[in-house]
This record gives sequence, structure tokens and C-alpha cells, in this order.
Amino acid sequence: MTHFDKDRDVTAQQGMCGDVAVLVPAAGAGTRLGPGAPKALRLLCGETLLVHAVRRVVATFGVGCVVVSAPSTEVRAVDRLLEAVRASAPAVGISVVVGGTTRQASVAAALAAVPSRFPIVLVHDAARALAPPELIERVADAVRNGSPAVIPVLPVIDTITRVDDLGVAVGTVDRSSLRAVQTPQGFRREILVAAHEAAVDDHTDDAGLAEKIGVVVHTVPGDEVALKITRPLDLALAEMILARGVR
Ligand code: CTP
Ligand code: MG
Repeated sequence: MTHFDKDRDVTAQQGMCGDVAVLVPAAGAGTRLGPGAPKALRLLCGETLLVHAVRRVVATFGVGCVVVSAPSTEVRAVDRLLEAVRASAPAVGISVVVGGTTRQASVAAALAAVPSRFPIVLVHDAARALAPPELIERVADAVRNGSPAVIPVLPVIDTITRVDDLGVAVGTVDRSSLRAVQTPQGFRREILVAAHEAAVDDHTDDAGLAEKIGVVVHTVPGDEVALKITRPLDLALAEMILARGVR
């Protein structure tokens, strides 16, 4: 686990332009979290998941631009929520676009709003609200050092099996080469643009799209703290993580 000192990190960030733009898809409904506001606007220890995520993004070395995809009915509310983050990181341009009906469409909408001067683009789910700046920087660094596409991964801890239509287990999968994929995922800008332009079907992540056009995707170690908040138990776990001093 990493300790996030947002005041120190934001100060270090001020005054530099950055080579990294971060797209934050935040337009999902949060159906699996149960009834309530769109997921990115749910509260975790008094702050929305989106603001938790964006605070950590702007505290990352090299980030100069953030584009958030908001639910179409919440664009103004999201823009207002981000005012406090803008004030804390004046060197970072933070904008909001209308998201789409799929995550992929939301990413494409945000990508279209990125100024061309940013050679590195990261895509980071608002739902991974606690992803620390160290993880975000690790991904950006790998792209800076020459990888066209980068994903953070963790080993798979559960035994994984295939089941048939009747619910019968038909074979345990060897998990030694399996990895769970997190965000942020990082790309050379032109690679991500080409992957989205070539997309014909819907993918749950951007590295999957890049693979489709033959891009080699490299991995870096992920971080347990960057868990995706999907179900109510994940929210409880995130609260516990914050209560233990990981901000
Ligand atoms: N997302 C998005 N636009 C969509 C769907 C998802 O920007 N049309 C974003 C979510 O806001 C989230 C990320 O993509 O930050 C990952 O999606 P997921 O965890 O599935 O979130 P939701 O789609 O909101 O949740 P659910 O599938 O339970 O409705
Ligand atoms: Mg979803």
C-alpha cells in the first residue's frame, strides 16, 4: 500500500506543463452498486469517487490535462465538483465531456477532447478511485520509456474454472500465466487514436482494442489499492483502506 500526500504532491506538480493527458471515464450508472446516483458521484468517506480519483491523477508527476466523461444529465454537476480540484492544481487543465452509452464511447469522447500536444494518454476508470499517484506514474513512465501500450496487472488469486451451459465445471484453467488487469492503462496518443478508429465491437478496456490492431501491450505491477469499486462490498473495503491512513 502507498501513502498519498496530496498537498506535497500537488505542490511538486505546480508550474510544469506535463506530457500526459488522462481520460477518466465516469459516465457509468453503477448498476451493480445498487440504486442511487451514478457510480462516480457516490460518496466514499464524504467525497465522490470521481474526486478521489481525479485528486490522485493531478498529483501525479507529468500530468497536464484531465478529461472526464460524465453522464449526460450530470455534466454541470461534475464540472462544479471538479472546481476544488482545479483550485488545488492550477497547472492542470481539467475539462468535462458528455460520456456515451458504453465505456468505449465515453473514452472515445474524452480522447477527442485531448489537445494534440500531449504525446502520452492514460485511460483511468473513476471507479478505481484510490489508485495512487505512484501507480499512475509507473504506467506513464513505461510509455515514456518506449512502450506503445501499458497495463498494470496483478496475479489472479482465485482458482478459475470453465463451466458449461448446465453449470458443470469442465476444466480448471492454469492461472500461472493469468493476470487481473487494472487502470490506468497508458498509450502513445497515436496508438490509442488508431485503436479507437479501428474499433468494430465493444471492449471493456482500451488495451484490448490496441491488441486488436496488433499493438504489443506491456505490463507493469498493479496495486491492490487500485481495486475497482463495483459492488457494495468494494465500497466498504475502500472505506476501510482510507480509514487505515491510505488517502
Ligand atoms: N463508464 C463510462 N461510460 C459508460 C459506462 C461506464 O464512462 N457508458 C465508466 C464508469 O463510470 C467507470 C468505468 O467506466 O468509471 C468502468 O465501468 P464500470 O465499473 O462497469 O462502472 P459502471 O458501468 O458505472 O457500473 P455498472 O456496470 O455496475 O453499471
Ligand atoms: Mg459497466
